[in-house]
Amino acid sequence: MSGARAGEGASMQGKACVITGATSGIGLVAAERLAALGARLLLVARDTARGEAAFARIQARAPGAPLRLVYGDLSRLAEMNRLAGEIAALEPRIDVLINNAGAMFAERGLTADGLERTFAVNHLAYFVLTNRLKPNLVAASRARVVNTASAAHRRAADGLDFADLQSERGYHYMSVYGRSKLANILFTRELARRWAGTGVTANCLHPGFVATRFGDNNRGFFRLGLAVAKLFAITPEKGAETIVYLAASPEVAEVSGGYFAECRPTRVSRAAQDDAAARRLWEESARLAGLPA
Ligand SMILES: NC(=O)c1ccc[n+]([C@@H]2O[C@H](COP(=O)([O-])OP(=O)(O)OC[C@H]3O[C@@H](n4cnc5c(N)ncnc54)[C@H](OP(=O)(O)O)[C@@H]3O)[C@@H](O)[C@H]2O)c1
Repeated sequence: MSGARAGEGASMQGKACVITGATSGIGLVAAERLAALGARLLLVARDTARGEAAFARIQARAPGAPLRLVYGDLSRLAEMNRLAGEIAALEPRIDVLINNAGAMFAERGLTADGLERTFAVNHLAYFVLTNRLKPNLVAASRARVVNTASAAHRRAADGLDFADLQSERGYHYMSVYGRSKLANILFTRELARRWAGTGVTANCLHPGFVATRFGDNNRGFFRLGLAVAKLFAITPEKGAETIVYLAASPEVAEVSGGYFAECRPTRVSRAAQDDAAARRLWEESARLAGLPA
């Protein structure tokens, strides 16, 4: 992408785009941009007030854009499955699925399913939504899955610990977050491999260090430290560029299994190139989610 704004020149007219984490930060800006490019958007939110606010903001910036809103908490397996069913019924053909909702938690917590919550929201929700929506993605003539990962995957230099995917043996928020983002890249690679020939591509990205609401769910020094660091972060408008690029640009129509930053293919860590780990993660995730491996 040579200097132009991501997605510029691309038409998303009539294309069905599903985006999670569309109520804040880079997801909200990406949704606005895609709406402005003509996409038919389906926003996934978990909170009614934030969902409605995002809806109103996108409508104001892209008047007349076809928009719909669905609600679900992506930390819970039952909700991931219910949401996928609702989305599948609303959009028989999905051109772009953007898995973007994510969070970091200063302290370890479990979801209703007994899963560590970073793993559940940041990885398992991507896995379940994508797999459940496969028929709808395949039904579009050319579809794209875009997964928001992070350069923080480099913090998980030793790779995933398959004996302790739920971080029971020790919890440090940055390591756990880093592993969830490594999981995003491994999932994208394995998805690209498994779905080759279906007409669906899969790519992931690092948005940069972005001043969003990210981390604001925490308290005390953690939140304070993050607030100070965000003074040096890029804007959500800049952070959303690579999402829009991967979702809309003709340049990457045939690319699959890649990791991008600033709209360019970028090297991943050694652990993120481990195809055996990618296969194993898929199998473990399928087992946890009750999906066929
Ligand atoms: N900010 C950065 O520097 C940075 C860097 C690298 C990667 N990322 C990644 O970028 C993605 C978006 O983050 P952001 O920076 O835009 O942060 P953000 O402003 O906090 O937005 C996060 C989005 O995810 C949604 N979400 C969180 N937990 C959810 C759940 N259980 N169910 C449904 N939705 C949920 C939030 O919904 P609510 O509005 O209801 O809270 C919000 O829409 C994440 O995957 C993050 O890991 C961010």
